[in-house]
Amino acid sequence: MFVNRGGASASTSCLKASTALPRRRASRGPRLGARDSGLRRPLRTRDRLGRAGRGAQAAEGSGREAAITGDLVAPQMSEVEETTIVEDGASRIIFRIGGLIDVREVEELTEKVGWPRRNPHKVKLALENSFMVTALYRQTLSEPGGSVECEDLIGCIRVTSDTVFNATLWDVTVDPAYQGEGLGKTLMEMTIRKLCRLDIRTISLFAEPQVLEFYRKLGFRKDPQGIKAMFWYPIY
Ligand SMILES: CC(C)(COP(=O)(O)OP(=O)(O)OC[C@H]1O[C@@H](n2cnc3c(N)ncnc32)[C@H](O)[C@@H]1OP(=O)(O)O)[C@@H](O)C(=O)NCCC(=O)NCCS
Repeated sequence: MFVNRGGASASTSCLKASTALPRRRASRGPRLGARDSGLRRPLRTRDRLGRAGRGAQAAEGSGREAAITGDLVAPQMSEVEETTIVEDGASRIIFRIGGLIDVREVEELTEKVGWPRRNPHKVKLALENSFMVTALYRQTLSEPGGSVECEDLIGCIRVTSDTVFNATLWDVTVDPAYQGEGLGKTLMEMTIRKLCRLDIRTISLFAEPQVLEFYRKLGFRKDPQGIKAMFWYPIY
């Protein structure tokens, strides 16, 4: 169990060297249109931000549960905060907290990092019952400085919390095509900073052995004060 009791200390601006937008790896081949790839979504930001579309009308009318339409889910913290991480010509990468999150996009992302496919209904419930989901999107603009035409989910973190003392981070993922550019660090730092602003200061996660160093650099410590994580194994 990794616990960070003191809050984040590093800076939030951490894209490496230049601020050039990370390029997709050449091996991925040319980008396909939304219909061809099934990965790229036409912009549903207005839906996601809860201001337009069927989902939003439901959200305004009758509470959080009603905001869930199709694959879009509203975690508990739905107030939207957006920050541009890097902009390069007609595309940019943004960090977003709140709004609606697309279950299919989350699952596609976890598949890309090689995790096993999960029951989509359970994923939907897990997202819906999470405190917040923080996300990185790559947005394609109509022209430099123009309107957003479409966006792809390229990173996310699911956060569960008692909303006062403790928060636990789950499913920390960055699309492999964008890894190694500082985006995982940015996503983590901005998520931790948000939790600290909410005065939630005991932040924990479960780390696979190969990413211990990634988390250590962000201030997470293994077995703080001798505390051990314990998992229940069926005995009855
Ligand atoms: C782990 C993950 C989120 C990191 O994202 P990323 O965008 O590649 O990481 P960054 O480029 O922001 O790296 C930030 C720092 O951590 C280091 N780092 C990143 N991944 C690392 C790893 N696996 N082992 C050791 N160090 C790592 C980087 O070298 C960098 O160090 P620096 O600041 O000294 O230059 C990403 O690799 C991922 O999604 N992996 C698959 C899913 C996964 O394993 N998630 C964690 C589950 S516990």
